[in-house]
Amino acid sequence: MPLVTTKKMFEKSMKEGFAIGAFNINNMEIIQGIVDAASEKNSPVILQVSSGAIKYARMPYLIKMVEAAVETTNIPIALHLDHGPDFETCKECVDAGFTSVMIDGSKYSFEENVELTKKVVDYAHSKGVVVEAELGKLAGIEDDVNVAEGDAMYTDPDQAKEFVERTGCDSLAIAIGTSHGAYKFKGEAKLRFDILQKIKEKIPNTPIVLHGASTVIPELVEMCNKFGGDIPGAKGVPNEMLKEAGRLGVSKINVDTDIRLAMTANIRKVFGEKPSEFDPRKYLSPARDAIKEIVEFKIENVFCSSNKA
Ligand code: G3H
Ligand code: 13P
Ligand code: ZN
Repeated sequence: MPLVTTKKMFEKSMKEGFAIGAFNINNMEIIQGIVDAASEKNSPVILQVSSGAIKYARMPYLIKMVEAAVETTNIPIALHLDHGPDFETCKECVDAGFTSVMIDGSKYSFEENVELTKKVVDYAHSKGVVVEAELGKLAGIEDDVNVAEGDAMYTDPDQAKEFVERTGCDSLAIAIGTSHGAYKFKGEAKLRFDILQKIKEKIPNTPIVLHGASTVIPELVEMCNKFGGDIPGAKGVPNEMLKEAGRLGVSKINVDTDIRLAMTANIRKVFGEKPSEFDPRKYLSPARDAIKEIVEFKIENVFCSSNKA
């Protein structure tokens, strides 16, 4: 099956009340871990690539590795640009064969974001590629905001409706309290599901995207720290909350940090237990296996899969 856009995946997600997992890829082991898991679970999957990933792995390598994944499996796979910073990067990805691009204009004013997103939508749609846009700001744990300022960072439901109407974007990333990385909450995890519901009422047919949605799996954090790591107090979004998000209309859930933790924890373990090991295959295989395991767990317990239909 050739690469697909996210259109059908999101239709299925909205019908069934489960989100589709979107996983960041940076190298061969990560791609294989994710795709093997999705294949085993007969699940659609979104492979996403950031500008940083393109800089690291280089575009032709990423494309060829994803093509290899597509050729050797029979599941729907979408190739998506994550956090496209400008029109040029989005165009480069559309031209390179991506089936979906994100233009992240969230750092700009509303009007500038509309203008930039519309420009990307016009180009991408002319080539059959779908576009994710972002409205609202994902807070970092260090962003010490008071309640009034905090509300201003979340996506405004009325603005979301106007934004989607004016840009024609295919899906919308929103801010309801998640943040990127391993430190998402100082105290208890809290997401503004009330805002999600209001957004969904305003734009019921637009698939919603949740960034910063790693669970920050406690066992992996513990394993990293046990074998020489230093990431104390890391905390993510509990699986139950992610399921609730899917039920309330989130169609795409982004995961990168959990992949990083799985890889790092398992490499650290090999280095800690076998200091004489220096064959990369000996520490990259367990890392790849661990990625497969956590992605399978997520598909089985949190995300949409054909097995759930
Ligand atoms: O949201 C950001 C993703 O985790 C990608 O991170 O830009 O370091 O590749 P990156
Ligand atoms: P995490 O850092 O929670 O994995 O979020 C990843 C993400 O949103 C990629 O766009
Ligand atoms: Zn993100």
